Amino acid sequence: MSHEIRRVAVIGAGMMGHGIAQVFAMRGYSVGLVDISDDILKKAIQSIEWSLGKFVEKRRIRKEDADAALSRIKPTTDYNVAVGDADLVLEAVPEKMELKKKIFSTVDKLAPPHTIIVSNTSTLSISEMANATGRPDKVAGMHWFNPPQLMNLIEVIQGDKTSQETVEKIIALSKALGKTPILCKKDVRGFIVNRVLGVVFNEAFWTYHRKETDIEGIDASVKYTGGFPMGWFELCDYVGLDIAYEVGTVLYEAYGERFKPCPDVIEPLVKEGRLGQKTGRGFYNWSGGRPRIRFELSDEYDVERSWAVAVNEASWLIYEDVAEPESIDTGMKLGTGWPMGPCEYADRKGIDVVVGKLDELHKKYGLEMYSPSPLLREYLAKGWLGKKSGRGFYQY
Ligand SMILES: NC(=O)c1ccc[n+]([C@@H]2O[C@H](COP(=O)([O-])OP(=O)(O)OC[C@H]3O[C@@H](n4cnc5c(N)ncnc54)[C@H](O)[C@@H]3O)[C@@H](O)[C@H]2O)c1
Repeated sequence: MSHEIRRVAVIGAGMMGHGIAQVFAMRGYSVGLVDISDDILKKAIQSIEWSLGKFVEKRRIRKEDADAALSRIKPTTDYNVAVGDADLVLEAVPEKMELKKKIFSTVDKLAPPHTIIVSNTSTLSISEMANATGRPDKVAGMHWFNPPQLMNLIEVIQGDKTSQETVEKIIALSKALGKTPILCKKDVRGFIVNRVLGVVFNEAFWTYHRKETDIEGIDASVKYTGGFPMGWFELCDYVGLDIAYEVGTVLYEAYGERFKPCPDVIEPLVKEGRLGQKTGRGFYNWSGGRPRIRFELSDEYDVERSWAVAVNEASWLIYEDVAEPESIDTGMKLGTGWPMGPCEYADRKGIDVVVGKLDELHKKYGLEMYSPSPLLREYLAKGWLGKKSGRGFYQY
């Protein structure tokens, strides 16, 4: 029997959890919001009230709708209260596997048999969490972007045992919430967006490490010449250097040399507690607001290099049957504000040109991230060069 999702429980009312609870409530779902103390829950509700107030101020919703949304959220420290009659449980606690597994096992015991359990994890294995339950077919990844109230992308991750029905329900649910879901067909580390972004960050770190260009030169080129909303170092500061470092480590463990971390760029700052915007200092000093990046430096870094490694990683995702080109392109545009997706870029630029750039960089620096994937080689051999040949990542 197929149950409609009406009641939701969100476990963890932190940065992501409170925003996610708000999105559900704004779309009419009743939400049990769970955390470990009343104090944390009180703060979460205050943040939700503040955010709803902003929506009203900007005339995106009416005051009565904001009040109604707030009234649909029931904060509690009691799992049973929130989970006992939930159709969907979303876990958004800190990124620790043991904690998440414990919560999945607890929720599995308390929730009705039909309940779907999803995790908002950015890096951890969905399949491992699923195996802590007796219903791995009803466990999936539902990865939101920060801030959930404003970001429209959701990565839906299919674990090893996730059923097609569960995947379809989470995709439909994401759409019902007004979001754009992209499907990550395999439970791989970094999923789609963080994997592509991870390699692009790494390319920038190595360039800086080799003293070819400084931080501001790279960022100015990326922003003003490349048309990206932020430079890579600025974005890294914004995400949090601790998070970027952690993701980088996970990617290296999962994919080896292609994600070889650059030794002395991010790690020393993390050790010093310079974690980016949230601590006031990272690569930049944020004490006076967003860093001012000089336009004059916009030719100091070759942005084609960022694109080349992004295209290469995208092609690995396709080669491994993790994602379709459309999903990758949508993910990069909605998740990180890229002016176009890497597959669209490659098809426009010419896949032969991108591979030529990768070969040139690989010859010069020897790093694996520049070594073209088997898929790119295959495309070249078949004459699939992008738009100009009528076929590339897409058909024209
Ligand atoms: N912050 C981001 O930008 C971002 C983006 C996407 C995904 N994520 C992922 O979302 C998850 C949460 O991240 P966050 O940034 O919101 O973390 P956070 O630290 O802000 O919030 C986590 C919350 O979980 C609560 N918690 C801890 N143990 C708990 C338990 N046993 N039961 C109930 N609540 C408990 C904490 O008190 C805290 O309020 C992580 O898996 C993270 O990787 C984060």
